[in-house]
Amino acid sequence: MSTSGLVALDLIVAVVAAAAWLGAGVAAASGRARSVPPLFAVALLVTFVRVGTVVTLAGSGWWFVQEKATVALPLLGAAALAAVVIAGPRLRAVRSPAVVVPLLTAGYATVAGVVVTFLVGYPASLSVGLIAAALVGAAAFMTWRLVAPATPAWRMEIGGAATLAVGVAGVSLAFAPFGGQSGFGGLGGSDRFDAGGGPAGTHRGDGGTAVTALTGPAGPDSGGTVRRYTLTARTTTVALASGRRITAWAFNGQVPGPPITATQGDLVEVTLRNADIGKGVTLHWHGYDVPSAEDGAPGLTQDAVRPGQQFVYRFRAAQTGTYWYHTHEASALGVRMGLYGSVVVTPRAQPPRGVDLTVPVHTFAGSAVVGDPGRPATRRVPPGAPVRLRLINTDSAPRRLTLTGTSYRLVAVDGTNLNQPGPLSRVALALAPGGRYDVVFTMPPGPVALLVGDRAAGGLRLSPDGAAAAAVPSTAGWPELDLTRYGRPAPTPFGGQSRFDRRFTLVLDRGLALSNGLPRYAYTVNGRAFPRVPTELVRRGDLVEMTVVNRGFDTHPWHLHGHHVLVLSKNGHPATGSPLWMDTFDVRPGDVWRVAFRADNPGLWMNHCHNLAHAAQGMALHLAYEGVTTPFHGAHGG
Ligand code: C2O
Ligand code: CU
Repeated sequence: MSTSGLVALDLIVAVVAAAAWLGAGVAAASGRARSVPPLFAVALLVTFVRVGTVVTLAGSGWWFVQEKATVALPLLGAAALAAVVIAGPRLRAVRSPAVVVPLLTAGYATVAGVVVTFLVGYPASLSVGLIAAALVGAAAFMTWRLVAPATPAWRMEIGGAATLAVGVAGVSLAFAPFGGQSGFGGLGGSDRFDAGGGPAGTHRGDGGTAVTALTGPAGPDSGGTVRRYTLTARTTTVALASGRRITAWAFNGQVPGPPITATQGDLVEVTLRNADIGKGVTLHWHGYDVPSAEDGAPGLTQDAVRPGQQFVYRFRAAQTGTYWYHTHEASALGVRMGLYGSVVVTPRAQPPRGVDLTVPVHTFAGSAVVGDPGRPATRRVPPGAPVRLRLINTDSAPRRLTLTGTSYRLVAVDGTNLNQPGPLSRVALALAPGGRYDVVFTMPPGPVALLVGDRAAGGLRLSPDGAAAAAVPSTAGWPELDLTRYGRPAPTPFGGQSRFDRRFTLVLDRGLALSNGLPRYAYTVNGRAFPRVPTELVRRGDLVEMTVVNRGFDTHPWHLHGHHVLVLSKNGHPATGSPLWMDTFDVRPGDVWRVAFRADNPGLWMNHCHNLAHAAQGMALHLAYEGVTTPFHGAHGG
């Protein structure tokens, strides 16, 4: 069973156990003597099953069970043992507090374990355990008062005082300094973050290099040119191919914004102007490893550009391939509204030939559109022409893409060429939010269709006569390509066996966390929400390993700015295909990705989920190079 399947199964088992214990207690309290023994037996059995599911899940990694093994199971175990010892021998004496209270308490303990998983998750601290125990104790005490009204007052006071003391101890531990989350002495591995310094917003100070000094070069490489663009962000309306008009935020009045193209070695200089976007805008060059001051992370590398203001970005077009740009201020909204466009850099040596189409996929008014939303996505391509499609997922949800009518090769991922990619047909490509795939093929005599989400409507149509193909075969049953086994291995500068200078683990989940001063049900990294997630601190030249674990039920496309990471393994299986360098990878529920990168681009960088709504709700942190400071407020990443 998959890890996410086990997570769900364990949750179901916990709920059944809680229902059985509570059911037995209620049956006893209401005098239904015959129901009590069978319910008690079921509760005990399911409790043992729960131990089994937690032990099995532990096989997927300690991150998936830490709070269950340290809080939920000890609570449940203690309460179940008490129920067996105290209530077990006198099950027929229903309505007796000695039967009712232990049975119900075992139910409370099971519920408390589930609540800890949902609200706290990984890593749960000692204080969380104490609070949970205190609450269960308090509930048991209240129950006892209810079913045994003739209790002497002094006993109640002692019980109440004890509960209160445990609760106060737990709460004070928890809030010093909110979530002393490594309370189990690093059991959960969170001590790895000690190297990371404080939360976001602490890389200030006078010494060191200001991030604003880490700018692009003054001119192009010899032989290159300067590519100048001006992008003006403005509110507008755009017409969809359906005829419907929608309000959009656009660069130069067009969605997607003007394509930025360059030849390797050119200098790209983009002047960003904001006409009327009240939230402010920036330009982030997604996947392009620009100098830190040019990265467009508001609050970290610059202030957002307000209406009437401008900002100039300069960077050398060193990397070839397919990239994109988008606003990074209030990015969940801004990108959705249309503030994005493509960046394509072609090698200098290689003159363009054939058909080269940039195909950003974006959702407008609820449906996925490829390229220009106002244009029918049909192109005339002569048979025999070489075709390159540059697929870009500009949405926050993963996209399943299929190509019918031809076989093809996936030649580049996130701008980096793959080694010896083989021919593909009848497979689906899963493209992460923010990710890019370049596919190439020779135009066949018949039509070719690119489908988004297996839907026959929409997508892109190529045909010799420019007509939309009448019938498109269903692709719904096509299996998904496993990128970690595609293409052939080639030497890499480092690998899974390398000696790493730093290792970081990011456990992704949901939970109760402070975000901008308010407790909320956030998207969390190691139990905390941005800007309280400790910064990953590195030194220039470090070889860094990053393990990204998804404990939750949503997919998290992980995106590190300023660097490409080499995929080492996924779910314990080493990558065996072409070296896979990515800037955005989908970490699905239950997934564990091990990736590595060389810290070779000094600066301050965002490291976040590219489901931009998740990032806005806490799932983000900073990667900082030692000695780099920011004059901006730092606690803000868009
Ligand atoms: Cu494309 Cu920080 O994002
Ligand atoms: Cu996410």
